[in-house]
Amino acid sequence: MLLLPLCLTPQDHLGASTPVCTLATKWVPSVPLHEARTATLTRATPSYLPKDVSSLQLEVIEETAGCLHLTLKDLSSPRYEVELPVGVPQSKGDSQEALYTTEFQSDPFGFIVRRKSNGRTIMNTTVAPLLFSDQYLQLSTALASSLVSGLGEHYTSLLLDLNWTSLTLWNGDVAPHADANLYGSHPFYIVQEEDGLAHGVFLLNSNAIEVMLQPTPALTWVALGGILDLYVFLGPDPQSVIRQYLQVIGYPMMPPYWSLGFHLCRWGYTTTNTTRQVAQRMHNAKFPMDVQWNDLDYAKQRRVFTFDPWRFGDLPEMVEEFHKKGMKYILIQDPGISSTSPPGTYPPFDDGLKRDVFIKNATGHILIGKVWPGPTAFPDFTNPETRRWWEDCIRDFHSKVPVDGLWIDMNEPSSFVQGSVDGCPDSDLENPPYTPSVVGGQLNSKTLCMSAQQKVSTHYNLHNLYGLTEAYATHSALMKIRGKRPFVLSRSSYPSIGRFSGVWTGDVRSDWEQLRYSIPAVLQFSLFGVPLVGADICGFEGNTTEELCVRWMQLGAFYPFMRNHNDKPNAPQEPYIFGKKAQAAMRSALNLRYSLLPFLYTLFHHAHTSADTVARPLFIEFPADSNSQTIDRQFLWGSSLLISPVLEQGAVELAAYLPPGTWYSLHNGQPFYSKGQYLLLPAPLDTINVHVREGHIIPQQEPALTTTASRRNPFLPDGGTVSWRLGLGRLVLG
Ligand SMILES: *[C@@H]1O[C@H](CO)[C@@H](O)[C@H](O)[C@H]1NC(C)=O
Ligand SMILES: *[C@@H]1O[C@H](CO)[C@@H](O)[C@H](O)[C@H]1NC(C)=O
Ligand SMILES: *[C@@H]1O[C@H](CO)[C@@H](O)[C@H](O)[C@H]1NC(C)=O
Ligand SMILES: *[C@@H]1O[C@H](CO)[C@@H](O)[C@H](O)[C@H]1NC(C)=O
Ligand SMILES: *[C@@H]1O[C@H](CO)[C@@H](O)[C@H](O)[C@H]1NC(C)=O
Repeated sequence: MLLLPLCLTPQDHLGASTPVCTLATKWVPSVPLHEARTATLTRATPSYLPKDVSSLQLEVIEETAGCLHLTLKDLSSPRYEVELPVGVPQSKGDSQEALYTTEFQSDPFGFIVRRKSNGRTIMNTTVAPLLFSDQYLQLSTALASSLVSGLGEHYTSLLLDLNWTSLTLWNGDVAPHADANLYGSHPFYIVQEEDGLAHGVFLLNSNAIEVMLQPTPALTWVALGGILDLYVFLGPDPQSVIRQYLQVIGYPMMPPYWSLGFHLCRWGYTTTNTTRQVAQRMHNAKFPMDVQWNDLDYAKQRRVFTFDPWRFGDLPEMVEEFHKKGMKYILIQDPGISSTSPPGTYPPFDDGLKRDVFIKNATGHILIGKVWPGPTAFPDFTNPETRRWWEDCIRDFHSKVPVDGLWIDMNEPSSFVQGSVDGCPDSDLENPPYTPSVVGGQLNSKTLCMSAQQKVSTHYNLHNLYGLTEAYATHSALMKIRGKRPFVLSRSSYPSIGRFSGVWTGDVRSDWEQLRYSIPAVLQFSLFGVPLVGADICGFEGNTTEELCVRWMQLGAFYPFMRNHNDKPNAPQEPYIFGKKAQAAMRSALNLRYSLLPFLYTLFHHAHTSADTVARPLFIEFPADSNSQTIDRQFLWGSSLLISPVLEQGAVELAAYLPPGTWYSLHNGQPFYSKGQYLLLPAPLDTINVHVREGHIIPQQEPALTTTASRRNPFLPDGGTVSWRLGLGRLVLG
């Protein structure tokens, strides 16, 4: 175990450097750096890190006017590099003049990226040593401001705390809480430069990463493997930064219209009849709802690609019934494949064995972990044969149960034993010289051994890509089988996942704090190119209360992905179980959402075709407004709809910020002329405040109990007052 000397922390450049650090800073270039686009760097003196790399290949690629790309690789031997699932179209060779300039120096080695228009320093990596060894790569930079967002997935506000915080990017099955590495990894940050300009940085690396933030302001990347593959996006405005990032990782998929409707799920709908009753009670109580879900209750002995013959024997018929009602059906699909069924009784495992699709342990045997069905093998989705096998399994299941989409859970991947049922070998992969702070203490806690072998590389290198590779395989399979735009919802994520899947924020607790932090969670996924995102409404863990559930349904009506989902032991939280007033409030929130679905769908089209954001932080629309730069208790849909939910127990009014301009209440058309100020707005239990920005038209369609029906309804007349046919609300357009 290597104890990190102080100089490896970002404190380094604040205090005096130790001699060891100084030794590590100088790199001698093969050619004068200011003249070259590529150079060899040779470390002047060996560093003390185990398996140090002493010669690096530096390459500087001006991808586009707004995108600078720098790579640092080992000159002498190839190392693992991330390959995103399919070739990303690059808009190389545009003729515009670059928005940046670069400068390099060798002692200490580093580079400086400036914004050409105003000379501002965007990156300055000379502030601390560049380190590059087999399992420890470190690069630090000064930051242009303290307004930094991104680096998910963590339980944080939209702006990250730079007061010596450390964020670990390592996909884990961890319920959202502070200071923990959650389900996804997104090594991308965006910096607001305070005058309205912005830039972003993406480190394309799938190893465990730790990012240390400090108040200087500065940031240190530590990656436990791979190469340093860095993209810098110069914007100049925040939305352009996101677009430039998505030009590298891919634009998000276009979701099917129905998937923007309301979804209802819980663990504990134990039979088809129970499931039917839930949908029927929703219908009887006139709650719009498009999609009924089942958790693992449906599966025989919790094995995927089966259904329980007793409790879910008529699952195929149930799905057909939903379809006849204009509804859709989705069920959960875990990656772990039960390995202990008698041979010949469980084709997914038998075929998988034959086709050699499973991840192996260090000695070449199939690695067995433990998940819901007991001992399980894990498909290696980096193997093309695995993707074909997965498609065959889905096709076979779909021919019996015509599901409309798949919910891929437990794909960090999560396992209930550490590493495998045989443990893990004692090696540098399992116990690297340096391990960042991860829940469970070790990289292989609650997941597979790091030494496990996949087609492309070790699990050590590929762990953070597991959910992404599964989402890609599932999306492609559904596309081929159903011939329609697929719906996939994933828990684990990595850059590019938005091309294949939506994401939900995992096992949130039923409490007010989690309600409040669901907004920055959703907004961060917008920055990561995953517009189809939401938190489990009313909370997943623990019992909700009526008031919390009403407020959560109201906010959830404005999550791009809207699902109420509950854990097995909890009190029910379907809208129809609450009192009359609560039900009316929830119904009105659902009707409001359904009336706005044509607008929401259009926003998704813009996300898909132009990399716009759907749920949008205020700073993207009002980047030069200092209040908008920090707000994450309110957000926008696109550029024009401002959502101001109640996030506190007992509150019946709300101090909502209206950015400069005129805003109209969506409920009654009342105008507010704002200089950029907080307004105290009434917010009784039946109200979520929504405002329309001046100069914008929001199309609305008369809602119905499903989108199949609402799509046949008229659009609401412009500027008029319309009583909805359901008699559930009145709508006035300002
Ligand atoms: C970069 O950082 C170094 C070390 O803190 C500092 O001396 C130098 O002035 C900085 N350069 C720029 C352009 O900010
Ligand atoms: C930073 O954190 C330290 C220690 O936790 C605390 O004492 C200090 O007040 C914090 N500074 C700021 C600006 O929040
Ligand atoms: C479901 O309900 C129907 C109609 O009441 C009944 O005939 C059937 O046996 C029930 N199925 C199960 C599995 O309980
Ligand atoms: C790999 O799996 C086999 C079979 O389960 C087991 O005997 C062996 O010890 C495992 N190897 C390692 C390195 O865990
Ligand atoms: C949650 O609700 C369930 C079912 O109503 C009840 O059995 C359980 O005791 C409640 N749990 C808590 C912590 O109140």
